[in-house]
Amino acid sequence: MASNAIEIRPVTPRIGAEIFGIDLNQPLSDQEFQTIHQALMDHLVIFFRDQDLTPQAQMAFGARFGRLHIHPAAPSVPGFPEAMIIHADANSTYVNGESWHSDVSCEEEPPMGSILRIHTLPEIGGDTLFANMYAAFETLSAPMQTLLRGLTAVHDGELLYRGRYTGNDAGRVYPKATHPVIRTHPVTGRPALFVNSFFTSRIVELSKAESDALLAFLFRHIETPEFACRFRWQKNSVAFWDNRSAQHHALWDYFPATRSGVRVTICGDKPY
Ligand code: SIN
Repeated sequence: MASNAIEIRPVTPRIGAEIFGIDLNQPLSDQEFQTIHQALMDHLVIFFRDQDLTPQAQMAFGARFGRLHIHPAAPSVPGFPEAMIIHADANSTYVNGESWHSDVSCEEEPPMGSILRIHTLPEIGGDTLFANMYAAFETLSAPMQTLLRGLTAVHDGELLYRGRYTGNDAGRVYPKATHPVIRTHPVTGRPALFVNSFFTSRIVELSKAESDALLAFLFRHIETPEFACRFRWQKNSVAFWDNRSAQHHALWDYFPATRSGVRVTICGDKPY
């Protein structure tokens, strides 16, 4: 389908857009790629409906945007290490992404983006929230922005991954990295808040008490409803989010029902 048939409908003024008129099973033309990439830059998360993708087609779509990432801990579709399984059912004791976060920010070069297709849904529930981290930065006072711009923080995979995916992971080392608290988006050049409640354990330049208090404030600030949109999935919906400018939170309000999908994640670069 020609890219001039692509329609972009914003979901809220600050974040999210639905994209119509594209079949992600087909290779993207350069113009379609540009249109989708620009929509991602403008809206931070973009949504597609009715995309009955194989893992290969989802991976081919992701590969247009960069090298594919292999998750350091989570299970993947057999034979496709780049296709991470997202699954919860009556036997689950956790779900992926059940708090505000940016994917795998504990790595030295955290993923630029993630593409999730949900193929099995509860009758109701299982929405995902997305929030704008440019807005999270821009709405802080000037003195707070100045303070944060001078700080770095530790992101520790140990906090989330230890004992989560496999029974015995003794001896396994999970990623840990230090990143600026405010990162500059490498494409838009805009500053974005880059700490999250999954991985960020400590602000390096502050005492522990100061770091705990400031992180608690920032984690609460990230939850501001006006920064967010809420996506209601349908079978074969796809969400593609930018981990450099947005955070997300998967809601687990559907237990004991089943929700399943596949996530393809795209490698990113070192935050600065
Ligand atoms: C994730 O954090 O990748 C999971 C998102 C979701 O299941 O909606």
